[in-house]
This record gives sequence, structure tokens and C-alpha cells, in this order.
Amino acid sequence: MKGVILAGGLGKRLEPLTRITNKHLLPVYGKPMIYYPIQTLVDAGIKDILIVTGGNHAGEFLRLLGNGSEFGLKDINYTYQKGEGGIAEALDLAEHFADNDKIVVILGDNLIEKSIKQYVSDFSKQPKGAKILLKKVDDPERFGVAEINGNQIIKIVEKPKHPKSDYAVTGFYMYDKKVFDIIKTLKPSHRGELEITDVNNEYIKCNQMSFAVLDGWWSDCGTHEALLRANNLVAGNANHKLKNY
Ligand code: DAU
Repeated sequence: MKGVILAGGLGKRLEPLTRITNKHLLPVYGKPMIYYPIQTLVDAGIKDILIVTGGNHAGEFLRLLGNGSEFGLKDINYTYQKGEGGIAEALDLAEHFADNDKIVVILGDNLIEKSIKQYVSDFSKQPKGAKILLKKVDDPERFGVAEINGNQIIKIVEKPKHPKSDYAVTGFYMYDKKVFDIIKTLKPSHRGELEITDVNNEYIKCNQMSFAVLDGWWSDCGTHEALLRANNLVAGNANHKLKNY
């Protein structure tokens, strides 16, 4: 399986921090944000990685990461999203890289405590379709929210005013090759973006979506509050490890 990290967008909610750099290069505790999703993929055994970036500071990714030797990688693939047409638009740029293989997609501002290895292994055995990871949160209206019945997701609503559950859809997605056919049928949402939630709802309609509830903490870094939270969570982990050393 191959890995795709989406690190485009302009990070407007983090102004003025993102005026002179890309959101995913901002520090989270001791490292630039982008290090965490790369490490998550590497820890899950995925070494074939594409980073989709954009904006005015794309060259800095290459300067920072080079060929990924710090992560034990032979190389890293990069591509560029013009503008910020949405998560699904950014993902569409990975079609050539995916080359009909299954893919694990991580939003570049999503950090987690534990490994996704088990979920990736479960998806590799899933004959077709997609798999997403959910997490119970206190503020579901900030996210895509899954409406669940038993062990089935009925539908996902993007940033609902009145969420039907507390289960946020995290930025960890697994797809078969059909994802690129679905993206090509999407129309921009009211915020002018090709939405990943529309992609996921297509899989749900075809009964081809599985899910798991993510173990350990999860945070995005999309707002100043979320970025601070992510920093504190990572710092907490680091201190815990030091104490147990
Ligand atoms: O964090 C999880 C949430 O991420 C999900 O619950 C939502 O369903 C999903 O839509 C997304 O919501 P956000 O509104 O928080 O996404 P945001 O626009 O902040 O983008 C998240 C990442 O996706 C960003 O760090 C980089 C990548 N991205 C985003 C856009 C809009 C791109 O690569 N290109 C883009 O055009």
C-alpha cells in the first residue's frame, strides 16, 4: 500500500502564522508538523510516500525533508496543488502515483498518539472499498460527523450545526483505486471545495465503507486552539516517555 499526505491549502485560519510559511511546516513541540504524518506512515510500514503541497512555500518542503533519509526512506515524492480547491482535489493529484494500488491518506495537520498499523493491515485484507477512522470528540460540529447505526455508517455530514453523533471523521482515510473515479464526479461544495466527505458518502452509498474507532488521542492543527492542543498532547507524550526511560 502507498501513502499520501495532503499538505496543501493556505491555512488561513492560522493567520498570521501562515503568512510566511506553510501550515504543515509550523512547529509542533520539537518538530515541524509534517514530520508526524510521515512518521505515522513509516511506523505503519509504508515507505512509498507522496506529499501534496501548495501555496507559496512549497519549495521549503524539499529543503526540509529532502529524500526523507531522516525517516529511513530512499526517497519522497512531491506534487503541487494550485490554489486550495479542497481535500478531494488535492487527493486527485495522487492518481498517477497510486497507480491502481490501495492508498492510505493522511491530512498533513492530523496528529495521533498511537500506530495505525492494525487499521492498515485490516484494510489490506478488505477486498474493496474504503475505510475511515472515527474519534469521539466534544466539538463534533468542527468536523465531518458520522451518523452510525450498529456497525454501519449511514452517512457523514460536513461540519453539521446539529451533529447526530459525537464521532468525528479523522483525517486518516484508506481507499481502493475507485476513489479517483469518484473524485471526478464531484461538484464543488458551498465553500467552493471538492469535499472528502462527498467521496466518503459515495462509498457509504455503495456499502463499501468500513470504519474503526481510533485508539489514543487525536488532534488536528487547523486553528490556534487546535494547534496548541496538539503541541500539548505531543509534549505530554514526550514527557511520559522521558519519565519511563
Ligand atoms: O481534521 C479532520 C477534518 O478535516 C475532517 O473531519 C473533515 O471532514 C475534513 O473536511 C477536514 O476538515 P477541515 O475543514 O478541518 O480541513 P482543512 O481545510 O483544514 O484541511 C485539512 C488538511 O487538508 C490541510 O491541513 C491540508 C489538506 N488540504 C486542504 C485543502 C482545503 C489540501 O491539501 N488542499 C486543500 O485544498
